[in-house]
Amino acid sequence: MAKQGYVNLLHARIPAGTADTAPMVAARADLLSSGVYLPLADALAKVASEHVENGMVIDAGAGTGYYLAHVLDAVPAAYGLALDVSAVALRRAARAHARAGAAVWNLWEPWPVADSSASLILNVFAPRNASQFHRVLTEDGLLVVATPNHGHLRELGDLVISVDGGKDARLEDTLGERFTRVDRREVTQRVTLAPDRIRQVVEMGPSAHHLHRDGRRERLDAITGPVDVTLSFSVTLYRPVS
Ligand SMILES: C[S@@+](CC[C@H](N)C(=O)[O-])C[C@H]1O[C@@H](n2cnc3c(N)ncnc32)[C@H](O)[C@@H]1O
Repeated sequence: MAKQGYVNLLHARIPAGTADTAPMVAARADLLSSGVYLPLADALAKVASEHVENGMVIDAGAGTGYYLAHVLDAVPAAYGLALDVSAVALRRAARAHARAGAAVWNLWEPWPVADSSASLILNVFAPRNASQFHRVLTEDGLLVVATPNHGHLRELGDLVISVDGGKDARLEDTLGERFTRVDRREVTQRVTLAPDRIRQVVEMGPSAHHLHRDGRRERLDAITGPVDVTLSFSVTLYRPVS
């Protein structure tokens, strides 16, 4: 147990570049604290309050625990577990909510979680391990997946590269035959972001690793005024097939 409050259960080495790095996590935490992504957090909290009364909520690829905390606020009898391979992120997730614990784990390995023990799994822009989702969810549990839509941040062009397009077909392919889609909600809004927020949007994701290409860093540095951008996500709900 680390003094920052998370448990590190990860002994196997993981490929370099898998975990979010300290600068990425710092950028993400700053951006999220500005409230820009609050509509998505609210949408996830609403889904949870409509469908879940208690039990364990697992946030698979929880990052700083921002969305898990919102969901736990909406379901007072539930408790949470943040799983992520980034210890830097989990230092924050461990403090994100009084009813949440946090464990460093590689989602592609069998999870350190009992069968049929979670009433809700959240998966927000993070890897999807369908067989583990299915194993740990209760029979009447709910899987909620948030993905960016095609037009998400389109104004920023190639400054932002998405590794997680929300194409329905791809999402359903990943989940295979273990899950049935029961609902899908779209969260779209236009926001005006100051240059430092634009920088955080770019630096909090994989785009941070590609800024040396095609003059991207220069183009990012050249943004000195506010920019209107589209934020667009899908929140898709699945039930496990028994
Ligand atoms: C785009 S971030 C999203 C974080 C959080 N859900 C949010 O939206 O703020 C993706 C997260 O997945 C984590 N991640 C990537 N590969 C992983 C793996 N194999 N096992 C566990 N976590 C992983 C990263 O460390 C990162 O925190």
